[in-house]
Amino acid sequence: MKKIKLIITKDYEEMSSMAADVVMEQVRQNNKSVIGLATGSSPLGMYQCLARAWDSGHISLTEIHGYNLDEYQGLAKSNPQSFYHYLKTNLVDTTDFQEQNLHVLDGMCENTDSVCADYEKDIRDAGGLDLQLLGLGETGHIGFNEPDTSFPRYTHQVKLEEKTIMANARFFTSPDQVPHFALTMGVGTIMSSRKILLMVSGSPKAAILYQVLFGEVKPSVPASILQFHPDVTIIADEDASRIVRDKTGFGGTVYEL
Ligand code: F6R
Repeated sequence: MKKIKLIITKDYEEMSSMAADVVMEQVRQNNKSVIGLATGSSPLGMYQCLARAWDSGHISLTEIHGYNLDEYQGLAKSNPQSFYHYLKTNLVDTTDFQEQNLHVLDGMCENTDSVCADYEKDIRDAGGLDLQLLGLGETGHIGFNEPDTSFPRYTHQVKLEEKTIMANARFFTSPDQVPHFALTMGVGTIMSSRKILLMVSGSPKAAILYQVLFGEVKPSVPASILQFHPDVTIIADEDASRIVRDKTGFGGTVYEL
């Protein structure tokens, strides 16, 4: 089992460009890779770097398949706050990533259980995830797997924590517009990926990042399970890594934990 690779970057821009390098390396190794996608602020700069790399002829994503981590319930694909719309705007419209290769849980479905089971089957049938991209919630969530008493294994429905609703309200006109339910890959789905890349930026994530890396592995800190994954890279900027650096004395840029 490899150690966790922790890369500390100066700022969000450097984190994004290094994260894009990891994705591009995956695409170079296998241009038919199956990539688990993430949305939100953390990967946005990385998608912008991929768009620039595509624009200058450095990568092609035509045969890549993407499975997004999660989707709000009650938002149609066309809703600007849906994760489908985010990926359409920030990946499909800006590169040669094919829309038919973009797989996102249907936030408007009524048969939640079968949609979740089909998503798991689709990922398996595609050969499993080669690389899973992740952001980190302030609650310690990955995907929308909130703190719990056990680690949810498969794709399922979740009720979002108040802290998550407030954190995501910035994308909506008001907090009461944020859906309270979502569908998300399970922690087991995420852990089944052959490689994982976690991007962490900003001081609100500093305390939880320390717990994720050095705390006990427990479902009340869902991302702590990454300590047990055989191939994880974490790219964190200076603000997000402040408590890690203060408590460990890390002063460099690359660590194996
Ligand atoms: C998004 C997702 C979430 C976010 C997390 C961090 O698809 O699954 O886990 O990665 O909430 O969000 P940002 O990056 O906006 O701080």
